[in-house]
Amino acid sequence: MDTSVQKATKIRGTLRVPGDKSIAHRALILGALARGKQVIEGIPRAEDVGRTASCLRTLGCFVEEMPDGQVLTISKRWITGQNLDAGNSATAARLLLGLAAGKGLDCIIDGDESLRKRPMSRVVEPLRQMGADIHLTGGDHLPLQITRKKLSGITYRMPMPSAQVKSAVLIAGLSADGDTTVIEEQPSRDHTENLLEAMEATISRDEGTVTVTGGSSLKGIYVTVPADISSALFFITAAVCLSDSEIYFIHTGVNPTRTGAIKVLQEMGADISIENVDTEAGEPAGDIIARSSSLHGIDIDPALVPTLIDELPILAVAATQAEGVTTVRGAGELRHKESDRIRAIVQNLSLLGAKVTELEDGFSVMGPCSLKGRAVSSFGDHRIAMASSIAGLFAEGTTRIENSDVVGVSYPDFYRDLITLAA
Ligand code: S3P
Repeated sequence: MDTSVQKATKIRGTLRVPGDKSIAHRALILGALARGKQVIEGIPRAEDVGRTASCLRTLGCFVEEMPDGQVLTISKRWITGQNLDAGNSATAARLLLGLAAGKGLDCIIDGDESLRKRPMSRVVEPLRQMGADIHLTGGDHLPLQITRKKLSGITYRMPMPSAQVKSAVLIAGLSADGDTTVIEEQPSRDHTENLLEAMEATISRDEGTVTVTGGSSLKGIYVTVPADISSALFFITAAVCLSDSEIYFIHTGVNPTRTGAIKVLQEMGADISIENVDTEAGEPAGDIIARSSSLHGIDIDPALVPTLIDELPILAVAATQAEGVTTVRGAGELRHKESDRIRAIVQNLSLLGAKVTELEDGFSVMGPCSLKGRAVSSFGDHRIAMASSIAGLFAEGTTRIENSDVVGVSYPDFYRDLITLAA
């Protein structure tokens, strides 16, 4: 499916974007490992999260949506010898790998064409150090096969900032002998740690270090998943870049390991405020208000990159509307996402007429640019489809996003919300 987006003059309204994908994957997986039942409210209908739910069912867990929309997980008897299909979701593949290796479940994990291109040895390596027997059939790539082995705790220093790697090791560590410690130089999102604490795991945290004790039991709890800040940022960018615009985002996650893009936009001059913050199960959430602003270009601090890694495509779009140069470096990880996101966003914005330069580990945008609508590819990547659609709101005429249905991976109603708010 292709979708056409017209230039917009303003964007206004109130929005609750779907639940946070990262937190939802973890609430399901840790729920499946818990004593008793876990009740989760606010699970998004995103395809990625659906993959985690269906893989857990394949492994013998009860994961069902109740008539009121809450999702219940109850761990039953683990089933071994299964094939798990993680679809497009690296979080599902990598975290389930940690679970299966830790629990000693023989299984095969595979994914779609895009996921089969993404690096897996970054997770396999520490799990092998713990004693896991994992066979990667395609070099560094899926499909992979796990053969039952008992794991022992390790101390693992992360070679790159990655919450997925950290989480896979910690999840495996929950079932290993002894303690498992992960040390990170640059803090990545800490949803796994927050939930483990809320579920009363034996866990200790110090700056940059987290340790879980093998065999510690988790208590099933009630989890409210806040709205996904990464999804909200597409519309936050639209609101700050268009004139006469204001959007109120209800109960959205504002965990500091995820709000780097808000900080960057504020530094660029964006009028964004956050109110009514409360914290549940370790996760702060609040209402975010974004209003029309005048942006100027900045150098994005590389230290912030792990806190805004998923938002760099939409920040590139914001930079096309800012006065002056915006540059990001230290973001080479972006080349290993659902697409090579540096190449994809640079190509799309260049096609629309922006002055963008591709750098090895980032990009540079010279603004403000007057964009002109034309056909662009989604590169089979939900965030490239959504970022390019928001760029379409700023472009003269019509911008056509090819293969736009890929937005279903994280935000199936994205175009419905876009039409409502920009009407
Ligand atoms: C995620 C971690 C990040 C992020 C991804 C979700 C998670 O990936 O890009 O969208 O839920 O842990 P990395 O761990 O590879 O940085």
